[in-house]
Amino acid sequence: MKIAFFDSGVGGVTVLSEAMKLLPHEDYIYYADTLHVPYGPKPKAEVKGYIVDAVDYLAECGIKALVVACNTATSVAVNDLRGRYKFPIIGMEPAVKPAVKNTDSGKRVLALATALTLKEAKFKDLVSVVDPEHIVDSLPMPELVEFAEQLIFDEAIVVPCLRQKFASLDLASYGTVVLGCTHFAFFRNSLRQVLAPETDIIDGTEGTLRHLMHKLEEAGIPTDTGKGDIAFYSSGGEQDIARLQRAFAIAQTIPD
Ligand code: SIN
Repeated sequence: MKIAFFDSGVGGVTVLSEAMKLLPHEDYIYYADTLHVPYGPKPKAEVKGYIVDAVDYLAECGIKALVVACNTATSVAVNDLRGRYKFPIIGMEPAVKPAVKNTDSGKRVLALATALTLKEAKFKDLVSVVDPEHIVDSLPMPELVEFAEQLIFDEAIVVPCLRQKFASLDLASYGTVVLGCTHFAFFRNSLRQVLAPETDIIDGTEGTLRHLMHKLEEAGIPTDTGKGDIAFYSSGGEQDIARLQRAFAIAQTIPD
């Protein structure tokens, strides 16, 4: 059986690419709901319906575990999914906790995510627990989702957009920027050019994959039983598969 990765679009390939370094002899299925991407600006109930339909399809394929490689989908549906299926389900969590812990005193944390992720109780609850000193700011970045979906990674286009988005922020005040959307990992280099040199950029991929390994072990599910194959599936049809494969090739070049 395969490990499934689910995202609204291309962002989750950044997590899959890292998973393959840890479990190179697994077989994977990557499902992108490209028919309905972006999730971020849509109402929760609508997005939840799309996610359940997609995961019903994956469950019928027979999978050993599911990684919800999408912060927005995790925020709105991971608890419902866990009640609905028996296989382990691992979600993404914006790395706000390590960001607060590792940020120097006097500096702030900036969490970038989709509007829906930032609106959801999951994010608000997390911040209320880990941020007693109120150093976390947040900013929705739908532009980066759009760029990623169109495979626009050209710094000449992305960097001016980032500068405009951040124009009202005191960037030197941020010790850490959290990438709270898997689509954003493609833009580390562009962000690096705009943020202060000493600002750290972190995401939740490592924690999610650690959790995946733990859940597989805990459930006694054998790993490394395949050949490292990936089957890409898209609700948007065949024409999106080549785009997913191209995004996956680009994700493999993202520096650690
Ligand atoms: C989106 O579909 O708006 C992005 C989803 C995500 O990775 O959070």
